Amino acid sequence: MIINNTISTSAARHFYNWWASWQTWVDYSESRARKRALDLLAPASGQRILNAGVGTGQTQAHLQAAVTPAGMVVGLDLSPVMLHHTRVRLHTPLCEADVRHLPFAPASFDGVFSSFVLDLLPFDDLAGLLQDFQRVLKPGGRIVLVSLTEGINAASRLSMALWKLVYRVSPIACGGCRPVQLAALVSQAGFCQIVREVVVQLGMPSEIVAATRC
Ligand SMILES: C[S@@+](CC[C@H](N)C(=O)[O-])C[C@H]1O[C@@H](n2cnc3c(N)ncnc32)[C@H](O)[C@@H]1O
Repeated sequence: MIINNTISTSAARHFYNWWASWQTWVDYSESRARKRALDLLAPASGQRILNAGVGTGQTQAHLQAAVTPAGMVVGLDLSPVMLHHTRVRLHTPLCEADVRHLPFAPASFDGVFSSFVLDLLPFDDLAGLLQDFQRVLKPGGRIVLVSLTEGINAASRLSMALWKLVYRVSPIACGGCRPVQLAALVSQAGFCQIVREVVVQLGMPSEIVAATRC
């Protein structure tokens, strides 16, 4: 089930400004999915990558090391405090913007990576966002998305049932995140070679969707 209502943009900025100091804690339940997603993106030397919703920059460091020396990774985020944490971590191009309004020319990137961001945006915004990811990707470019998703075994189904109970009472207590399933939307947006995997870590299910701009 997809819960459409989520927190407002200003509430998200406020929440993630506050949450930035705690972001590394969720590594215990998200790190494996992020690592698998980075493997599926397979960034290569010389490439230009967009890291949409860069957070505190953990994935940015990995991506930047992979594209060095000639490539570039742009980390984009709504939260200035998240961007500050990334800036402290490493010297890298950063952009304060809303992922739904990408300030980049068409065909600017070889890859788009976004982990645990689309699951906090209004469902109605996702089709347009995926079209915009297509726009900024070069033909043949790769997109890899990681999101909280529905459970696939007893533990992850239970954790998502509890999560959704909390979410119904207070979306902000969940950072606006609720389980989504994005593969069909990615297909409808016109991407090719779609791969979907679900990784469960400490009972938390994460969906990875990788695809290519046709
Ligand atoms: C759950 S954190 C994930 C951070 C990072 N991608 C990771 O996997 O650790 C969500 C991030 O998305 C950012 N964010 C939320 N809404 C956004 C929007 N509309 N545009 C850009 N970034 C947004 C938040 O500021 C936060 O850094």
